[in-house]
Amino acid sequence: MLEILVAQITPVKACVCLVGIFFLAGLLRRLQVSRENSRLGERAPRIRFQLPYAIDHIYQYVVANHNCQDLVFWQSSILNAQGASSIDHPQTAELDAGISNRTIVTTDPQNIRALLTGQFADFGKGEEFHRDWKEFLGDSIFVTDGELWSRSRQLIRPMFTRDRIVDTELFEKHIQHLIPLLAGTPDSKAVDVVPLFLRYTLDAATDYLLGEGTNSLQNPATTFAEAFKYVQHRQGEIFRYVPFNFLLSRTKFRQNLKIMNDFIQPYIDRVLSLPPSDLTQDPSKPSTFLHALAHFTRDPQILRDQLTAILLAGRDTTATTLSFCLYELSRNPSVVQSLRAEISTRLGLGPSSKTPTYTDLKEMKYLAAILNETTRLYPVVPFNLRYALSPTTLPTGGGPTGSSPIGIRPHTRIIYSTMLMQRDPAYYPPPEESKAYYYDPGKWIPERWMRGWVPAPWRFVPFNGGPRICPGQQFALVEMGYTLVRILQVYGCLRAGRGDGRGDGVGEGVEGDLRMRFEITLNPGSELNCVFERDDGGGYDGGQGGGGDVKKERSA
Ligand code: HEM
Ligand SMILES: *[C@@H]1O[C@H](CO)[C@@H](O)[C@H](O)[C@H]1NC(C)=O
Ligand SMILES: *[C@@H]1O[C@H](CO)[C@@H](O)[C@H](O)[C@H]1NC(C)=O
Repeated sequence: MLEILVAQITPVKACVCLVGIFFLAGLLRRLQVSRENSRLGERAPRIRFQLPYAIDHIYQYVVANHNCQDLVFWQSSILNAQGASSIDHPQTAELDAGISNRTIVTTDPQNIRALLTGQFADFGKGEEFHRDWKEFLGDSIFVTDGELWSRSRQLIRPMFTRDRIVDTELFEKHIQHLIPLLAGTPDSKAVDVVPLFLRYTLDAATDYLLGEGTNSLQNPATTFAEAFKYVQHRQGEIFRYVPFNFLLSRTKFRQNLKIMNDFIQPYIDRVLSLPPSDLTQDPSKPSTFLHALAHFTRDPQILRDQLTAILLAGRDTTATTLSFCLYELSRNPSVVQSLRAEISTRLGLGPSSKTPTYTDLKEMKYLAAILNETTRLYPVVPFNLRYALSPTTLPTGGGPTGSSPIGIRPHTRIIYSTMLMQRDPAYYPPPEESKAYYYDPGKWIPERWMRGWVPAPWRFVPFNGGPRICPGQQFALVEMGYTLVRILQVYGCLRAGRGDGRGDGVGEGVEGDLRMRFEITLNPGSELNCVFERDDGGGYDGGQGGGGDVKKERSA
């Protein structure tokens, strides 16, 4: 019987049959998944796509990313999702492309709060993320959950106790290497601040955490920096190409990882060779992160992972934030003046000025406003990711009105954007309410923080919140505050330099939108050139702006 049947089937018929079976199986699976989703909660508006598996959507994302248009891309994906038009202020949408699991995109503070604190146990980095990031970050703090994560968190925590944070002297050594470099060269007064800040923060973070700095400001070597940059770039692509990222070649990625690993190796060797007398100290009060690591493990792979994570966290974040801050300062002379006025009152300006202590930095309100404003507009983790670990819901964004809980199966990917949320006009006083002073949420205006406005809870979370809040936050704020104060004590005038960094070029081609490149963290998409002029030198008339009435030109 069976033989007769087999004999009659032509290869073509067999293929048609097989395709049919796959199709049916796929359909059944989708029905089952869909039923499970509905049992858990509602659906969010669906992001539109035409091609199977949303290949067109992934392609457009890749193109948008290439063109530094990520914000516009995600914003319009949410606004144009099917069903979003009937929702007042849509902030959440989903991509349901068939083969992979659903992806939810949200900018809603209620959902972000649930992810980060209220339903912390339901969401984590998940297996998929851990697997995709394994080669770069191993089993380190950024890519793990549960016990593995918690152990890394305990390992790093002693590094950020108060008595360590207050030690601002550490930064002075490195700032003294940075300051002369900001003056530029005889050929070019404009300097690109980005690579300088990357070197500066690498030196400071390695000094602080590992007990010995890399001193890269004095010995510029680009091998490590370039390898690190490439690895992050490729890792970003691995993130964007999900679920097709297995197609990406990892050859160059691995070559660059090797360069990074060679750079880190001496630190691993140092951990392994710490004399036993060093290790009899109280393990809860390690003298450096290296000592903490030596107590933790002797496994070179784990040491490598932990060190890589710490370099990523400690270098790029503050360097980028400082770069964007300098970019804005060089375009806002009135803000520079107001900040210099605050510095002058408290610490003085010029060669005889005092260096700021921890308390000084904490009490300087305008400085804090500038740092808040920079992390509001340019949060270094603009898009973040979680996976659902169990069957659960997100509190809002589902159903026809977008106000019902969304049903979430395990393995659902959630992308949340603090950057879109922090720029959302709905969370700021509207022009008509703020009378003479309207502060456009899309612009960098530190004054908004000086007039009694405070963001509502969970609407300003550049450092995250909940159990996974950035443990380096205080360190980062002190480092950045110290750096700004010291730079402005020396340089009285900052001006925007031309994009290509050649010649003086002040004032040419400095207009136009800032390009932002979204790698795994936020980066400037081009050079950020500034001209720094000392108080005593070169034609600064000191009278521009008029510190008291800053930003009036932006009033509505
Ligand atoms: C402007 C500066 C910084 C910003 C805006 C920032 C922001 C963040 C954010 C949003 C996260 C959460 C990431 C996630 O959910 O996966 C994070 C995590 C982390 N940050 Fe920072 N960070 C900054 C500087 C630093 C510095 C200087 C260090 C250390 C020297 C540091 C160490 C860490 C670590 C270890 C984590 C992982 C925490 C965990 O997963 O439990 N950060 N940071
Ligand atoms: C999708 O979800 C299933 C479980 O439903 C899981 O086994 C699989 O790893 C997930 N796939 C991806 C690409 O996330
Ligand atoms: C900066 O933001 C933090 C966190 O929201 C807030 O507590 C602080 O008051 C803000 N500082 C200023 C000067 O607005």
